[in-house]
Amino acid sequence: MKAVECDNIFKQFKYKGEKIQALSGLDLYIDEGEMYGFLGPNGAGKSTTIKILMDFIRADKGSTKIFGLDSKDVKSRARIGFLPENPVFMDNLTGREILRFAGKSHGMDSGEIDKKSKELLKRVELREAADRAVRKYSKGMIQRIGFAAAIIHDPELLVLDEPMSGLDPLGRVLFKDMLKELNESGTTIFFSSHIIPDIEDICTKIGIIKNGKMYNEIDDTELKYYSTESFRIIYRDEGVLPDEFKDDAVKISEELSSVNVSKSRLDLVLSKMKEENFDIVDIQPQKKDLEDLFVEISEK
Ligand SMILES: Nc1ncnc2c1ncn2[C@@H]1O[C@H](COP(=O)(O)OP(=O)(O)OP(=O)(O)O)[C@@H](O)[C@H]1O
Ligand SMILES: [Mg+2]
Repeated sequence: MKAVECDNIFKQFKYKGEKIQALSGLDLYIDEGEMYGFLGPNGAGKSTTIKILMDFIRADKGSTKIFGLDSKDVKSRARIGFLPENPVFMDNLTGREILRFAGKSHGMDSGEIDKKSKELLKRVELREAADRAVRKYSKGMIQRIGFAAAIIHDPELLVLDEPMSGLDPLGRVLFKDMLKELNESGTTIFFSSHIIPDIEDICTKIGIIKNGKMYNEIDDTELKYYSTESFRIIYRDEGVLPDEFKDDAVKISEELSSVNVSKSRLDLVLSKMKEENFDIVDIQPQKKDLEDLFVEISEK
């Protein structure tokens, strides 16, 4: 059974007399157990799709199902955890109270809630701030408590809209680790982002949305390939580089230098460097931005 099915959904908004076509026949299918990344630029229709799945708004046309049940049926959402794009809480509540509220709304008993809250507050590093009102939380702390609230009831499907926005690099690593652990223990995960590295590090399948339509669906290996612009080879600077690329070399330190090579030249450059016995220290993929990724994929 599919965890999520969106069949040919359309959604138009009217704003000050103007019609905005947010979704134009979007198809999206997510298998159970998948870690699915929903990648697309600003305004592509990611949040609109998620809001339709959560039944905050209704599609004009098409059908949406969660674990085989129509998403308009409240029962379809009993097994879901959800983190919206900009979570808003009653700001006089403390972090711990928000978790209690979330647990209660999912029918958990107090003992269970206390145990799970303790564990989650520690995991999202809010133990110290747990009894502070959330109006005193930073953006990243709000995101962390929202994440904990979304998973307190061990959902089977976790839906997150731009979960990593507002997080610092350490927060991003923490979220990615937690998402990986949840997915390994069987939770299906669906999250949106417009940041390629956030998606390619953890997702197994990536749906690319543009102008309200599914533009392409690729796996993580393809995303890594298509999103790589070039490679930066770092080597120990002991010899002279072959003529073809010696002008591109940049000195990094006393011992190390680097040379940037395109994807198509990587093989050639590496074999030449090997012939000359260069000591290669690292090969780092250099990433494209989302717009350039679209160009590459459309030319594929
Ligand atoms: N309530 C609304 N009223 C009018 N237009 C809307 C409304 N909600 C969304 N839109 C429009 O629908 C389109 C899709 O918006 P959506 O929020 O789904 O994009 P998104 O992919 O989530 O973008 P972002 O990466 O910026 O979050 C945009 O053109 C947006 O302006
Ligand atoms: Mg959005």
